[in-house]
Amino acid sequence: HPSNHQMEESSILKQAECRAKGGAPGFKVAILGAAGGIGQPLSLLMKMNPLVSVLHLYDVVNTPGVTADISHMDTGAVVKGFLGQQQLENALTGMDLIIIPAGVPRKPGMTRDDLFNINAGIVRTLCEGIAKCCPNAIVNLISNPVNSTVPIAAEVFKKAGTYDPKKLLGVTMLDVVRANTFVAEVLGVDPRDVDVPVVGGHAGVTILPLLSQVKPPCSFTIEETEYLTKRIQDGGTEVVQAKAGAGSATLSMAYAAVKFADACLRGLKGGADIVECAFVSSQVTELPFFASKVRLGRAGAEEIYQLGPLNEYERVGLEKAKKELVESIQKGISFIRK
Ligand code: NAI
Repeated sequence: HPSNHQMEESSILKQAECRAKGGAPGFKVAILGAAGGIGQPLSLLMKMNPLVSVLHLYDVVNTPGVTADISHMDTGAVVKGFLGQQQLENALTGMDLIIIPAGVPRKPGMTRDDLFNINAGIVRTLCEGIAKCCPNAIVNLISNPVNSTVPIAAEVFKKAGTYDPKKLLGVTMLDVVRANTFVAEVLGVDPRDVDVPVVGGHAGVTILPLLSQVKPPCSFTIEETEYLTKRIQDGGTEVVQAKAGAGSATLSMAYAAVKFADACLRGLKGGADIVECAFVSSQVTELPFFASKVRLGRAGAEEIYQLGPLNEYERVGLEKAKKELVESIQKGISFIRK
């Protein structure tokens, strides 16, 4: 007699095959850190995404509960949970897209860089698994400090001989989501109609909103520009302080992560003109990594766009951003090369 567990497994596989045959465009997605503050709402939202046929939830704690809960949602994706390091390889095998929100979040008074020592090690371990089990998957890296964890992931993949710079994307979408919201507030318009490019990196002054390139075209006074730039750069700290020790942004981050992952999946499916900001390997500046608009396609970030014309305020901001970024990038690279 097959055990309950085996029966469950074969029926899950049958369901997934059945759906695949029905022609539903199905991608296989794994979330690493799925039981966390971001991971749980992110798992919920990905279970609702019609482009997802199989959803793997991996964490070092609590995945059975989160998986049982999410699996009862009557949406298409088949959900499977994986608990602990010994199940990492099974969680990763066969996946098209890996989303990584694993790691510790900030508490009041901490910078994203303060998270480096713990999260760097976590990202290294997870990326070693990816290099081994799903080297062709697109990776969406959320764990902070993104300015350093993306270079860490790149070094791990290089060492393993699997590095494809188009497929490694640091998620800066929350900065864009915040920028759209705050700019819409100032303009008195619907945030869904606003598009603010945010370039540079994902920490403090490295977050550079290009307010001169907002769509729809508009102009800001210097006071508005300063207020908006600062609020976008400090958006994460605003949430960390409000949560007063209970962590950092999780719900808006889950929303932003899904907005970005969905764009990656539409790109994988062959959709045209899918453009979002992300922190990627880049030649837009002299730095090896930089966030700017990228076009997402079957190969990942297929095209990386130049910054476009900057005004004086943005040119000054760019220099400040680069100064900090270069150090964060180097810190990530040294963590693996040392
Ligand atoms: P959390 O502590 O609530 O959840 C993190 C989860 O990761 C936990 O469930 C934990 O068990 C898991 N985890 C720890 N080590 C692991 C490992 N080796 N393998 C797999 N899972 C592991 O933290 P939260 O709030 O969900 O934040 C997660 C990360 O996302 C933090 O680094 C945070 O700074 C970052 N973040 C990034 C943002 C961005 O815009 N890119 C925005 C907000 C947070």
